[in-house]
Amino acid sequence: MTEVNEREADLLRVGRWLQSWSAQLSSEVCGIGVDLEEVVRWEGPLRLEALFTPAERRYCEGKARPARHYAGLWCAKEAAFKALSGKITVNLRELEVVHTADGAPKIKFLTPVGNVKPLQLHISITHTSTLAAAVALYTHQL
Ligand SMILES: CC(C)(COP(=O)(O)OP(=O)(O)OC[C@H]1O[C@@H](n2cnc3c(N)ncnc32)[C@H](O)[C@@H]1OP(=O)(O)O)[C@@H](O)C(=O)NCCC(=O)NCCS
Repeated sequence: MTEVNEREADLLRVGRWLQSWSAQLSSEVCGIGVDLEEVVRWEGPLRLEALFTPAERRYCEGKARPARHYAGLWCAKEAAFKALSGKITVNLRELEVVHTADGAPKIKFLTPVGNVKPLQLHISITHTSTLAAAVALYTHQL
């Protein structure tokens, strides 16, 4: 590669970087939500199929202590509901928590309403042996 070509490639990389940053900067925060749950509430017999999708139940049942994960997933849905509250009406049963390959949780909308492109919902979940919590941030691309 000549010096001119290298410079051109550098400029292209910087351009792509600036483009991705400007896309992120042109989002506004429209809502925030938080939720906290006692893990014990999710132990014992519950109608889990009414509250969680088959994929969510498979995820939680695959863990050593499913109740902590059920509590965390439920917190994520309630936090998401709060973040969207007053702007977009969703039923908690229309939300599914999925995980990326590295384990990060994401909200998937099961109905078209939430799948509007500029809408983005970011969530984070944590749990101890007794408590689970989640926060959600609703952003909208300008
Ligand atoms: C991902 C990580 C931060 C989770 O923290 P933790 O204290 O073990 O567990 P928490 O209870 O706070 O969080 C668990 C939740 O984190 C979320 N999570 C898992 N991986 C994640 C990731 N890559 N990004 C964002 N969130 C993640 C999940 O929602 C999980 O709950 P769920 O499986 O029920 O949905 C942790 O496992 C980790 O990998 N830490 C990095 C440690 C490290 O690099 N140490 C270097 C030596 S100091």
